[in-house]
Amino acid sequence: MDSKETEYKSKSGKIKIQSPSNIAIVKYWGKKDIQIPVNPSISFSLKNSVTKTTIDYQFNKDQSDFDFIFRFQNNRNKTFEEKIHQFFIRINSFFPWLTQFKLNINSDNTFPHSSGIASSASSFSALAISLSEIHQKITGEKIQSELVSEIARLGSGSACRSVYGGWNLWGQTEQSPNSSNKFAVNINNQIHPAFQNIQDSILLVSSDKKAISSTVGHQLMENHPYKQGRIQQANNNINTLIDTLKTGDLNSFIEITESEALSLHGLMMSSSPGYTLLLPNSLNIVQQIREFREQYNIPVCFTIDAGPNMHVLYPESNKKEVQEFIQTKLVRYCDNAQVIHDEIGEGPVAIS
Ligand code: PMV
Repeated sequence: MDSKETEYKSKSGKIKIQSPSNIAIVKYWGKKDIQIPVNPSISFSLKNSVTKTTIDYQFNKDQSDFDFIFRFQNNRNKTFEEKIHQFFIRINSFFPWLTQFKLNINSDNTFPHSSGIASSASSFSALAISLSEIHQKITGEKIQSELVSEIARLGSGSACRSVYGGWNLWGQTEQSPNSSNKFAVNINNQIHPAFQNIQDSILLVSSDKKAISSTVGHQLMENHPYKQGRIQQANNNINTLIDTLKTGDLNSFIEITESEALSLHGLMMSSSPGYTLLLPNSLNIVQQIREFREQYNIPVCFTIDAGPNMHVLYPESNKKEVQEFIQTKLVRYCDNAQVIHDEIGEGPVAIS
């Protein structure tokens, strides 16, 4: 028996991690190399929209390659298995034991598929954290949170922002000397109370699977006619947003948030080939929110991910009137009246 075999042999066990999805205010759109963003992005982690991942790990001395089974909601899922296999190839160097343990992975989301909530962010962050915890149990070495974020990024870019709670910045920017293209950093200590309890009600305009994936969308940015302008715009918005989050300027926040959401979709429409993910009801919601804000002077705004569903953002202090407005004016634009009320959350946790 070699020394590694002796070290690993008694180290079988089980780990269960819950990790959130996140919603970006300044959007990551376009990448180079392995998930290196062409521009910085800022998001906050959600509270209720989470992935719960359980991994049983067992030493297997005859194994020489990855050996794992992936189940989503208790059903074997070959498409995800293929994605995880690619992920394992990318992260193998961080986890030398990965080819000597059999893994049984089970994953579940608290939110529906195609709901406008990024499941790749919650699921890859949950996987990266689980593997890092297993690494510590097997080898005794703790993986620092920035490296956990970097590992999550190699699964899905936006997942690197989900390994922490609250507000997170990913991508190098002059204003934040510790920022990096490789991992996200937490910026909770720079957030004005006005944004510390931000609410996010997600309106499901359509539950259909989206026609164009984010992977394709990122690729279409490579030769996009507005690529340089977009990179400039995102950098300007990041600089302004960092100040805005510090000072608590709600008007500036609304302006950046809505401009980023519509710019993202403008980039999709003007790529080659161009495409639209927004639906007529997404635009009806845009109009209603703007009218409501104007009429009642309530600081509510929208953001949108790569799909037709709408995220309605507002301070906790306006929860009652905004949720009433959603119920009376916006639910009619949703598929089966589906709305998920979420809010900023504290980040990943181990669960039993
Ligand atoms: O992490 P990906 O490759 O699924 O890309 C996410 C892109 C957006 O959700 C549209 C924006 C973002 O920053 O999360």
